[in-house]
Amino acid sequence: MKDSKSVYYDIYSEFYNVNKFRELKSIMHHGDNRLNHINRVAKMSFIISKKLGYDYISCARGAMMHDFFTKADLNKKDTKFRCFLKEHPNIALNNANKYFDMNVIEEDIITSHMFPITHNRPKYAESKIVCIADKIVGIYEFLRYELGFTYVLAYILSVRVLL
Ligand SMILES: [Fe+2]
Ligand SMILES: [Fe+2]
Repeated sequence: MKDSKSVYYDIYSEFYNVNKFRELKSIMHHGDNRLNHINRVAKMSFIISKKLGYDYISCARGAMMHDFFTKADLNKKDTKFRCFLKEHPNIALNNANKYFDMNVIEEDIITSHMFPITHNRPKYAESKIVCIADKIVGIYEFLRYELGFTYVLAYILSVRVLL
């Protein structure tokens, strides 16, 4: 039987083998790149759903696709911040449909991950897990990459240690 790391790696590889998906590596997202963001959300969702006894494969696969869109997929209207927040789950779903097979849980994960900004409430436990993991990771990335919080904290601590 495969260990968790290999199972997660197999899921990740399926997506990483697609050219359009690899493009996410070159797109800024919360101060880091979108592929790293997706990987963090998918890993966290995989671990939590496995621990709680849910469908961790669908949970991780849905998370891998939740922000699957590139700059080329956004029209002028979508780039406006409020529109972007509400529209990008539909754009990601459209891309996911073109490139991958999905079950109903995975579809729901993609379309509901922006709840409560959108009114699309998560229907499954797996969708709720991704919705929450996405917020936690988003806050972490904002503090770390947008504000450089960890570096500020490390600096303060190092000054304290040195003095
Ligand atoms: Fe998103
Ligand atoms: Fe996200």
